[in-house]
Amino acid sequence: MKEQILKIKENSIEEMKKCNDLKTLNDLKVKYLGKKGELTLVLRQMGNIQPEERPIIGELVNQVRDELNVLIEEKEKELKREELLKKLETENIDVTEPSKKINLGSLHPITQIINEVEEIFLGMGYEIADGPEVEKAIYNFDKLNTPPDHPARDLQDTFYINDEIVLRSQTSPVQARVMENQKPPIKIICPGAVYRSDSVDATHSPVFHQIEGLVIDKNISMADLKGTLEMFAKKCLGENTKIRFRPHHFPFTEPSAEADVSCFVCGGKGCRVCKQEGWIELLGCGMVHPNVLTNCGIDPKEYSGFAFGFGVERIAMAKFGIEDMRLIFENDVRFLKQF
Ligand code: DAH
Repeated sequence: MKEQILKIKENSIEEMKKCNDLKTLNDLKVKYLGKKGELTLVLRQMGNIQPEERPIIGELVNQVRDELNVLIEEKEKELKREELLKKLETENIDVTEPSKKINLGSLHPITQIINEVEEIFLGMGYEIADGPEVEKAIYNFDKLNTPPDHPARDLQDTFYINDEIVLRSQTSPVQARVMENQKPPIKIICPGAVYRSDSVDATHSPVFHQIEGLVIDKNISMADLKGTLEMFAKKCLGENTKIRFRPHHFPFTEPSAEADVSCFVCGGKGCRVCKQEGWIELLGCGMVHPNVLTNCGIDPKEYSGFAFGFGVERIAMAKFGIEDMRLIFENDVRFLKQF
């Protein structure tokens, strides 16, 4: 019987050496150590041997079983490691392989112009201000020295929410909001959407964008306004850009002016973009009206200031050569991709 046990041990070790997968190893475990395994069967035959031999045989069976258990455990660890390595090898990822193409969007031409203008004014020490698009008529008109009978307040020009609330028709109300909340010196620009009751065509849209500028301090003069706008025009439209001022009227500035820039496409000779004029109308501006300063709690005897406002679409259309304003709002990807 002793020989039988040693033979079992020898066979099992032999088979284990040949085994190279976990399934076969498990089968081996069942075959030798399982309930109906070969070693267990040996114990069942114990009744056939001399009683004094039984403890010796019993001990031998236990010893062999322990040894086999250790061997199986080691083999199992080894096979698992091998399996993992194989998996890592076959499933590894080639990080150098080109990835799927991701389609990136681009900034809208209006956003690009706003960003560019912001950069220029931030560089001159301005801050960026913000105000509501649904605005009180008082801020959009009254505080800006625009009385109730002014034509700009007509139903045909302005969208009314009710008698007191409008969709702002200009970014100028932000001037009043800033002056009420901030002590001079004030140096801000405010970009944003504005609304007018206009029909859509190649040069009109009921929503468009403006950028407002406001400077309030002691001893601010028209010379500061001219210098600032000239600097801005050169940075935004090119070093050779010239600027000229024409007298104009705005209720919230006195004196008021409109500023034109020399055409940055033809340099002033006359072309399609400037409609053969050599000049392109750029913005409205002026010295802040004393009434506006007073309305917003600033003493006009102590402080003065200038303001300006211009349309972003007009600059974008001229700079990018866009001929129809509708394209800017339709947002056809084929159009947007070009900028
Ligand atoms: N708000 C004016 C408009 O929409 C533009 C404008 C003119 C703004 C003169 C100003 C200014 O700040 O001083 O036509």
